Amino acid sequence: MAKSSKSALEKKLRELGPWHFKMPVGDGKFTSDYNEIHMKNLVDPFIMKRLFTQLYPQGFEGKSFLDIGCNSGGYCIAANQLGAKYAYGFDIRDLWINQAKFLRDEVFKMSPKEVHFDVAHIHDMEKSRKKYDITLFKGVLYHIPDPIHSIKVLADITNEVMIIDTAGSVDAPDDCMKIFFEKPTAIMAGVDNMAWLPGSPKVVEHILHWAGFKETRVASCKVYPARPHMQRMRIIAAREKKFLRAYDRKMENKAKRLAEAAK
Ligand SMILES: C[S@@+](CC[C@H](N)C(=O)[O-])C[C@H]1O[C@@H](n2cnc3c(N)ncnc32)[C@H](O)[C@@H]1O
Repeated sequence: MAKSSKSALEKKLRELGPWHFKMPVGDGKFTSDYNEIHMKNLVDPFIMKRLFTQLYPQGFEGKSFLDIGCNSGGYCIAANQLGAKYAYGFDIRDLWINQAKFLRDEVFKMSPKEVHFDVAHIHDMEKSRKKYDITLFKGVLYHIPDPIHSIKVLADITNEVMIIDTAGSVDAPDDCMKIFFEKPTAIMAGVDNMAWLPGSPKVVEHILHWAGFKETRVASCKVYPARPHMQRMRIIAAREKKFLRAYDRKMENKAKRLAEAAK
């Protein structure tokens, strides 16, 4: 890349910050190298490709993908790289959508017809006439005032698989959700000032079953030492068992390998 266009790119990356996603931008550099403000808990969205290919070993060819609270769009970009025919990400904040569009247009050179981004609230999905094969709902369930309703709205527009990744409360009973009030001014937070933390994956699984996603798997549920009052859980849900066949086989093989190693 010519020196002048490289410095223009770097200037733009600085102006667009702070960055929450650590995305490659060429020359071994990442968006996070241009963070003037230090962001905690940087996320590498390409790590999710591992789960995506466990679910769909042949990739996302012919599939459509939806990402709620997409931040700077890394999961949609990953979905496109895996062959998705269409990926749609939206976020409530301009800051993140400006980053997503910049990465799509200037760094990854993807077509807006294949990878589309909008500023929107999750409630706007109630009016969606489009359906998606795969929906990612990561880091947002615990930022909204009505998680049960929102899961139902998303389930109704998802054909195959939903991935829900959320924080939960350690001290709420397993079958409850705990209310909390967050400041909408925080750039990673919700905007409604009221939110709920599930007490266990069981709560999320029950809501998903009620919403028509009868098959659920708890991919992980952990408490990180840095946040001992919170748990982090990931639930994979499918409308039909067949959509989890590849994933189930992978997990069975993994369990067998671990059992063998423990002998
Ligand atoms: C904790 S971050 C998670 C970002 C990303 N999904 C991830 O997994 O790292 C929450 C994101 O959701 C967005 N967000 C919060 N409330 C939202 C809402 N009601 N509708 C759409 N996006 C929302 C925030 O702007 C932020 O980008």
